Amino acid sequence: MGGHSRWAKRVARWLPGYSLGPDQAFQVDGAPEAVERQRHEAFHALGHRLQARSPRTLAASALTAHGLPDMQFTSRYRVPFPFSDLVCAHLRIGAFWQSSQGVSLLDLDGNRYYDLTGSYGVNVLGLDAYKACMEQGVLEGRALGPVLGGYHPLMADVVQRLRTISGLDAVSFHMSGTEAVMQAVRLARYHTGKKHLVRFTGAYHGWWEDVQPGPGNPMPPRETYTLSDMSERTLQVLRTRNDIACVLVNPLQALHPNKSAPGDTTLVDGSRSAAFDRAGYTAWLQRLRQVCTERGIVLILDEVFVGFRLARGGAQSYFNVQADLVCYGKTLGGGFPMGVVCGRADLMQRFRPDRPADICFARGTFNAHPYVVSAMHAFLVMLDQPEVEQLYRQQDSRWTYWAQRFNQALSESNYPVRVDHLGSIWTVSYLQPSRYHWMLQFYLRDQGLALSWVGTGRLIFSFNYSDTDMEHVLTRFLAGCRAMKVGGWWWLGEQTTHRVLKKQIFKEMVKARWGA
Ligand SMILES: Cc1ncc(COP(=O)(O)O)c(C=O)c1O
Repeated sequence: MGGHSRWAKRVARWLPGYSLGPDQAFQVDGAPEAVERQRHEAFHALGHRLQARSPRTLAASALTAHGLPDMQFTSRYRVPFPFSDLVCAHLRIGAFWQSSQGVSLLDLDGNRYYDLTGSYGVNVLGLDAYKACMEQGVLEGRALGPVLGGYHPLMADVVQRLRTISGLDAVSFHMSGTEAVMQAVRLARYHTGKKHLVRFTGAYHGWWEDVQPGPGNPMPPRETYTLSDMSERTLQVLRTRNDIACVLVNPLQALHPNKSAPGDTTLVDGSRSAAFDRAGYTAWLQRLRQVCTERGIVLILDEVFVGFRLARGGAQSYFNVQADLVCYGKTLGGGFPMGVVCGRADLMQRFRPDRPADICFARGTFNAHPYVVSAMHAFLVMLDQPEVEQLYRQQDSRWTYWAQRFNQALSESNYPVRVDHLGSIWTVSYLQPSRYHWMLQFYLRDQGLALSWVGTGRLIFSFNYSDTDMEHVLTRFLAGCRAMKVGGWWWLGEQTTHRVLKKQIFKEMVKARWGA
């Protein structure tokens, strides 16, 4: 459905809401009574443990949630929706942290957790590195304070460094990744005189209208074509259509081409898969590059997530491809909010000398805020430190080694779980069908591992995880899996397949929609 925005929106409108109560929720896969009891007890015991460990954190979260719809949303969408009511009532996860240090976060009750949230991907070099950049940003920016419009002196060096890293001529500054993507697409449309943008199935590019044409956006898809990643037919479309201004690529999709972000909320029958093929994806990007060049289509690499994580030179250097425009964000701000577009000089120009009224307008009050520019400068300087360069050189083999260690340990213990990864971005898949795999996120929290609200779909490591830290994370991960097994969540009926579970779910939906 991810490729068919209109159909996906229709299905989303049709899909009835229903909730599995305590009588149904633990045996919805046809498990025998003994297993149902086991699950029931495990569920409530876990709920009590989480509550007893973090009473202040949970109380603050409950108090704030009423006035913070974002929190209500993330709590509900941690798990497949039929289980949401039950989980929200009994398996509560706090939304507050009081401090961070090294690779850990401290909740309001003083409990320490390994940070696998990655701060939405911002945290590449380690939380303390960003604290240092932010302090430096405040220190360097203080003399100028909130002066906007004119630039902080460090801007000149920032522009120069970004030009070198991106291999492109010019730079513009924005306040978020979403805005950087908006500006890149706008420039592509302005210079090509064409309207449509191409994005790939499942790819996230921020929450702005045109790049998010399916459910989640009340507006119908407009000048957007959603095409298949790594597909000959896509190249054919690009070769033959005359209305395409740009192709937008989020290289994170290399981990799961044509699939949406792997949140646990979609683990309805337990199916999820990922696999990263560096050579295959590199070849694909290079072919895409070639077709875009032949057709005068602007190739935009959206590196807001993976830039400065896969390699010091970002995805362009990792996949050996040169884009026309590149968007950066997240980590580049050194801990502060920002977005950047780097591009070819001709594409970045916002006016036409021969038609002075035909301009491409883009502004933003807080673009290039002095504190942010200074922190960004500190981050870019940090990238040049020999020990940081060394981290980048090692990172590929290091994450591969650890992912293999995890998979070996999981398989030796006979747990139906494996991990796949794109560098330090990991995703968990499950080797058997189940309607309960999402429970693992709560057992991992119980073991002191903090995941973001998308659950086991995305674990984000920072480069300052030591081998000892990784051993501890592995031990805790295995303990979480053991608890899943003991709780009866991985009970498997002889007849249970993904197909059987999907049929069950469909029946539940029909019943919810039209009654028995
Ligand atoms: C690839 C990509 N592009 C754009 C964005 C939007 O960035 P922001 O959340 O800073 O607006 C994100 C955010 O996750 C992203 O991952």
